[in-house]
Formats: sequence, C-alpha cells, structure tokens
Amino acid sequence: MTIATAPTLRLTRPDDWHLHVRDGAAMAAVVPHTARQFGRAIIMPNLRPPVTTAEQAVAYRARIQACVPEGVDFTPLMTLYLTDNTPPDEIRRARDAGVVALKLYPAGATTNSDAGVTDIRKTHATLEMMQREGLLLLVHGEVTDPAVDVFDREARFIDQVMEPLRDAFPELKVVFEHITTRDAAQYVAEAGPHTAATITAHHLLYNRNALFTGGLRPHYYCLPVLKREEHRRALVASATSGSAKFFLGTDSAPHAAHLKEHAAACAGCYTALSAIELYAEAFERAGRLDRLEGFASQHGPDFYGLPRNASTITLRREPWTLPESLPYGDAELKPLGGSETLNWRLVG
Ligand code: DOR
Ligand code: ZN
Repeated sequence: MTIATAPTLRLTRPDDWHLHVRDGAAMAAVVPHTARQFGRAIIMPNLRPPVTTAEQAVAYRARIQACVPEGVDFTPLMTLYLTDNTPPDEIRRARDAGVVALKLYPAGATTNSDAGVTDIRKTHATLEMMQREGLLLLVHGEVTDPAVDVFDREARFIDQVMEPLRDAFPELKVVFEHITTRDAAQYVAEAGPHTAATITAHHLLYNRNALFTGGLRPHYYCLPVLKREEHRRALVASATSGSAKFFLGTDSAPHAAHLKEHAAACAGCYTALSAIELYAEAFERAGRLDRLEGFASQHGPDFYGLPRNASTITLRREPWTLPESLPYGDAELKPLGGSETLNWRLVG
C-alpha cells in the first residue's frame, strides 16, 4: 500500500519588504497574520499623522512588537515618511535608532500622502545624508498631476522623477515599490545595482479586469491601480526571472470593509492573511515554484544588506478556502480573494 502525501515546499523564512499595519486595534488585528509567515517586514509610515521622526518610529515599533503573539519571532523594520522638511540631521538619529529607510510619497499620490514631497529637489540635502549613512529610499512611483491618466502615472514617473533621482544620487539604494507596469520592470532590470523593486501578490495574480468583473469590485482597488494583462505578465516574468533586483513586498493595506464598500472606496488590498500562499499560487501558475525562495527570502535581505533568516517555513499543496471576513477592531476586514480557494497552505 502506498500512502499519498501532498507535496510540500520548504523555504527559508520569507520577509515582507512593504507592509501597512496601521495602529491601535486595527494593528492588533493584522500583525499576527504577518508574524506567522514572515521573519521581518518593512513597516510603512503613512499613519495619520505620519511617522516622520526617529523618536516616533521607535515608539511605533514598540507598539507593533506588543501585538506579536508570544513565542513568535518577528522583527518590524522601521521607515520614516520623507517630507519637504525632513532635516538632514534626522537621518543620523534614524540610523542610530535602527530605522532602515525613508519612504517617498509624492504629495497626494495615495492614502495618507498629504504630507508627502511636493518637489523632490526640496529633499536633496536629506537624500545626500541618506546616501552617506546607508539608509534606503523607498519610492511610491507615480506622478500626481491630475492631467495624467491614472494608468500612465507610473510610467511617467520613471522619466520625470526616477531617472533624475538616480543621476543625482547614484550610490543611494532605491526600491521602486509595488511596480505595476512592464515599463517599470524594464527600467529596474536595466538600472544599476543600487535599484531594485518590490512586487505584490495581487499585481502578479490579477489584471485590471478584476476591478470590473460582475460589477465594480472595490476590494481589488489599490494604488498603483491594477494594469492590463501585458503588464501583469511582465511582472510575473520579472518576479520569476531569478533576478536579485525583484523581491517580495505585499503592500498589504487593510481598510475597514465599510470604507472599501463606499462611494469613494479606499485604495488598498488586504493580502497579509495568506500572503506567502498567494505568491506560491502565482509562481506555480508560472511553472517556477523553484524561484519562489529567491524572490521571497533571499533577494530582499541581500539588497538591504541584512542576513537571510535562519529558520524555515513549510507550505503544503492542500486546497483551502480563504475566509470572507475577519474582525478588525470594531469593524470588518475583507481579505483579497475571500471565499476563494488557494492550492498552497502554510503548515509550519
Ligand atoms: O493601495 C494602496 N494603499 N496604495 C498605497 O500606496 C497606500 C496603501 C494604504 O496605505 O492604504
Ligand atoms: Zn504601500
């Protein structure tokens, strides 16, 4: 007699290089989901008000750590929100506090970005200091000019902001966050060794049709918005290429369900509940599960200059159904793909 056992996949524990956990009761609801899969996560600073000083980042880190379940080894990696007025001095304080990066939100580009940068030239002295002190710049790469079509804002950002930025600060490590287009994938692939990109699971799994299938579906709305199929395919090719320039960043961005199912739905997809399983799905569909570990567990720490995690996780090929809704403080949270079946399950 043979006993059939489902295939399993053992990976070095992955990290999430782009994550929103919010604060307070919302944070307490979501942090355990990330902590059970990932060793570390880069925490986005777009709170209201934003995290702009080393002192605020240290306090926020302690609040996050207090939400990590007993016995779970998870390290939040902190970032500051870059503004027109971030003093160059703050960079040294940030480095000493263990902050690893600053996040550039062009003012008005997305959720809680009102305090963002209005003109990149205003930040040059601070970027100079980051380059010197070895802090990374994480970029939300979309222009904000309302005259530019929403679907073209990322591509336009490359020549308007990214290329001049790279020329001015060639040694600064820059991560083009949550890329969504073939243009950005190609730009990063051809850029020098100090430029990399994160790619979300949702941009690997869905194209913009997902927003409109059977009605307007706000849970698929995020920024940068989902693009055409040809762009999704380019992202899958980059993520599964084995290139060390591309790594995992979920951009999991929880919003209360009533604010997603709203006349002006908030941007953000909640994927942290099942992030590594969603990526496994995307890599399996591309026939490249063998490249998942590099993308999820190796390229990110290598680019940030941090050690790879020592522990492992195990996924089993076992269909399971995502819950439709989760508790979220006093509200509800609807994970992306809720009620749908995933083929891979995290088992240890
Ligand atoms: O969809 C998004 N949601 N994109 C962002 O850039 C921000 C994020 C959020 O904080 O909700
Ligand atoms: Zn984000």
